[in-house]
This record gives sequence, C-alpha cells and structure tokens, in this order.
Amino acid sequence: MSKFLIKKSGPLKGEVKISGSKNAVLPIMAATLLTDEDCEILDVPALKDVDVMCELLSCLGADVDKELEKNRIKVKAAKKIASEAPFELVKQMRASILVLGALLLRTGHAIIHLPGGCAIGERPIELHLKGLKALGATIDEEQLLKGIVDAKADRLKGASIYLDFPSVGATEVIVMAASLAEGTTVLQNAAQEPEIVDLANFLNKMGARIKGAGTDTIKIEGVEKLHGVSHHVIPDRIEAGTFMVGAAITRGRILIKNMLPDHLKAVIAKLRECGVHIEFTDNGVLVDGGKNPLVSTDVKTLPYPGFPTDMQSPFMALLTVAKGPSVVIETVFENRFMHVGEFNRMGAGIRTEGKCAIIPGNKVLKGASVAATDLRAGAAVVLTGLIAEGTTIVSQIYHIDRGYEHFVDKLKELGADIEVVED
Ligand code: EPZ
Repeated sequence: MSKFLIKKSGPLKGEVKISGSKNAVLPIMAATLLTDEDCEILDVPALKDVDVMCELLSCLGADVDKELEKNRIKVKAAKKIASEAPFELVKQMRASILVLGALLLRTGHAIIHLPGGCAIGERPIELHLKGLKALGATIDEEQLLKGIVDAKADRLKGASIYLDFPSVGATEVIVMAASLAEGTTVLQNAAQEPEIVDLANFLNKMGARIKGAGTDTIKIEGVEKLHGVSHHVIPDRIEAGTFMVGAAITRGRILIKNMLPDHLKAVIAKLRECGVHIEFTDNGVLVDGGKNPLVSTDVKTLPYPGFPTDMQSPFMALLTVAKGPSVVIETVFENRFMHVGEFNRMGAGIRTEGKCAIIPGNKVLKGASVAATDLRAGAAVVLTGLIAEGTTIVSQIYHIDRGYEHFVDKLKELGADIEVVED
C-alpha cells in the first residue's frame, strides 16, 4: 500500500493552479445520459472518482472518450442505455447515485444497489427518492429494504417538491429528472452550492429551462429534448480552500490561480479572522500566512453559503496550531470527526462531544503515523504533517487521489517535503 512520507517543511511559497471541481463534474457527467448527442466536458480533473464515473457511463452503454491528460472527456449516450448501475462501481463511489434521475428518464427504469454508509455518515437518499416519487416514479419498497433502489417511471410529470434538508445530491438528481419531465417543477429548500449552478448551466446549455439555481428555490420547466454541448467545469473550491489553509498553516505565501473567491466567502472570512492576509489580485488570490500572528476562531459548518463541511477538517488542522482555543461544530454530517483521533496522535489534544470539537490550540505538533479517514481528512493530516516536528506517515492515501488532482506534485512545487513510499 502506498503511503505519504512527510517531513517538517518550511513555509509553502509560490503559485498553484486549481483544477476543475470534482463535485461539479460528477453530476455533469451523469447529465450526459439525458441526450443522445455529443457532450464535451473541459477542465475535468484527473481523479479516481472521474475514472469511476467514466466506467459507469460506459457500462451503461454510453461511448466515453476519456482524455484526462488534456482534462477533457467526451460522452455520447446514443446507444441503448442499460437501467442497472453495476454494484462493483457504485460501491467504489457513492456519487454513482447521481445517475438515478437521468437513468429513470432515459430508460424508464433505474436499479442502483446502495453502497451503505461511509466514514463520515450513513449517507441516506430518502430525499432523492421523495423527489422522484413526487415526479411520478414508483419505488419498489421491498427492494429498498434490501438496499436496492429499483425505480420505474413511464413519464415524469412536474411537481412541487420541498426538501427537508438542502441535500446537494437530492437537488442534483431532482433537477436532472425534472428537466425532461412534462410541465413545471418547483424545488424548495434546494441546495445552493456552486456545483448546483454549474450543473444547471450545463443543462440550460443543453436546452433545459432551469431558473433559480444557487438559491433555495429552483424552477424547472420540462422540455421535450436536450442537445449535446461543450462545457468548462468550474474550479474546485475545496481544493482552493485546502491550499489557502496550506499557506496559512505553514506561514507561507501562495498565489492561488484559477479559483473563484465568491465560492469561498465563508472560508475567506474565517481565514481573515485567524489573521491570514488574503488579497484578490489580477493573477489570482494571494494568501500570506506569515504577515500576522495566527489566532483562533470558532467554526460551524452549514449548507452553502455557510462554512462548507468539506473544509472542516483542513481548517481544524490550522486551529490546532493557532493561538487560543476554538470550537468546531459539524452540523452537516453525523460522523465527520474521524480526523480528530489522527490530529491527537500528533499532540493536538482535541476533545469532541457530539457535534462539537474543542481545540486547545497553541500546539507544537509531533510527526506520527496517521491515516486518511476520508478524502478531506486525508488532506488535513498532510497539512499538519508539513508543520509537525519530525516525520509523518499518512496511510490510506487512496482517499486523497479521489479528490485532489496531482496533490503531491502541487505541494512539492510549493516546497513541501513529501514523498509517496510503498509500505
Ligand atoms: C455532496 O455530497 C458532496 N459530494 C460532498 O462532498 C459534500 O460534503 C456534501 O455534498 C455536502 O456539501 C458530491 O458532490 C459528490 P448531501 P451529498 O446529500 O450529495 C443528509 C467530498 O469530500 N441527507 O448534501 O451526499 C446526509 O446524511 C464529499 O467531496 C439526508 O439526510 O451530500 C448528510 O448528513 C464528501 N437525506 C447531509 O444531508 C438525504 O436524502 C448532506 O448530504 C440526503 C442527504
């Protein structure tokens, strides 16, 4: 098994270019099933999850031309599309559920074996199913009890749907299904993440009629047909936030290129509260972690535009060494403190109580053998490894390859002392 071997590094300095967004490209790839014409997606990050989604689309019958060295994918779902997503692929990537709405529309039937929970939570999909049922789909309740989504629909009809929680995945699945339904759908308490806006932009270019993406109410007027398009994916705001924290925690100075500051208002505000200097320049966002003392602040994760749950563990890495105590409250996922145990192996002294973590701060961390407990927690322990005394070994790094394109190369470019070693 590969591991990262990280030595205490100096301040990260230089430039980094942010890749396309994993959480935007995955639903957009699913949406290519909604047309039998050519779709070209650009600025695609070369990630494991993108590979799995490519494999899923081709297993379903789409022609997929993957040129990730050029960050480009072409998809043409012209042939007969199968209705069942292979479990082998779904269990590798829970985002496979994003094909549910498109499959249902395309074939009138969708069968997806649920992968079950993961490190950060149970990951239920009752809101996805609530939306599809409102649009006229029937869900086999027997099969559901066995963890299999078996949905059928001859024709979907527009409906008014309220989401009990602004679920990103449920919003995406419902918007895709409603785009070709008969009549108008109004989705209330919808997720407002930038990735929803990017999906809606992609669908509208295909000929869909979606209004209000990025707000809590999305109106979709169903159309007869969607066409092939070419689309550039938005930059990955979580990768950008992770490198911003990298500059802060190492007291370095990084120019972050190809990021959209508007997508990271909460993270930028919190970093500034910690004393990090952030300047918007014509060439990118300059983050200087060495200008002022690093002080602590409290963080509460919320659905967008609140502080993103995906930035909770990287930001907590920063708080372990900031001056003063801090409290982090995780409200989005029920079990997203797995990284706390890893930070504590490095001497962070964090205590958790339910959704709250209390970080004493002011620590001098010591290198240790730690694990990447999920994608973002993996990036977080890499950040603490860069500043800990001595050497840090990070295992389970396959999580990180899922969501950070060329992560080690980008860190090395900035002066990090990090190597991939075989166990
Ligand atoms: C998306 O996951 C992202 N993944 C996650 O990023 C991100 O953390 C999450 O949104 C929240 O922003 C992709 O976009 C591929 P949710 P998703 O449905 O859609 C509960 C990463 O690291 N919920 O908004 O699965 C659920 O249990 C990943 O890139 C229900 O209760 O997130 C969770 O507590 C991790 N019922 C909360 O909502 C439902 O029917 C957020 O889930 C659906 C969700």
